[in-house]
Amino acid sequence: MKIAIDGPAGAGKSTVARRLAQELGFVYIDTGAMYRVLTWKALQKKVDPENAEALYELANSIKIHFEYHSGQQKVICDGEDLTAAVRLPEVSAMVSTVASHPAIRKIMVEQQQEMAHNISVVMDGRDIGECVLPDAEYKFFLTASLEERTHRRAAELDSSGFTIDYETILHDITQRDKRDSEREVGSLKILAESIVIDSSNLSIEQVLQKMLAIIREE
Ligand code: CDP
Repeated sequence: MKIAIDGPAGAGKSTVARRLAQELGFVYIDTGAMYRVLTWKALQKKVDPENAEALYELANSIKIHFEYHSGQQKVICDGEDLTAAVRLPEVSAMVSTVASHPAIRKIMVEQQQEMAHNISVVMDGRDIGECVLPDAEYKFFLTASLEERTHRRAAELDSSGFTIDYETILHDITQRDKRDSEREVGSLKILAESIVIDSSNLSIEQVLQKMLAIIREE
């Protein structure tokens, strides 16, 4: 079985997707982490995020995979654990530009489809229902108000030791959502078959229970 969870930044997709995968005994794949790894590498190698050709070369030269240590997912690139590094604010600020290039998306989508081949997965991202897993049995679109998403992201960054003011986070999220929604390929959108869940007034647990109820109903 394949379950897709798409939605804007800070909607709680990754937490819910991880919990849902645990509950169902499925593998969780965080596709955002893959775009973030490429962005981290681009930052390190001083590759311009607008330079599709240089990014394409870089994307083809690296190997990204996930490892699971006592239930925790780690994103590894060329043997290096980049789980914490990819969440850095400078990566967040650049990632949607890197992810806007169709050639980059093609590489990532192919790798994601390979990872999901023949196994039951919960995958979260922006284009999962449309491009990565078009045959997914369930396509959730998880959203929340911009204010709530900003608060959540601020709390998350705070717990990782980054104190960033509300306005800066609001700006990052707004910019990223705009770029993610407006790009030509793999844009963020609600599909005709999407099951939309607004989590503005719901806890992670309530969202999880809602999804499980929908899945178990059938
Ligand atoms: O956790 P958060 O919602 O902030 O973002 P993420 O899921 O880690 O994704 C980071 C960025 O990667 C997004 O803003 C998109 O630009 C890009 N992305 C994408 O283009 N397609 C995906 N399937 C997943 C992420």
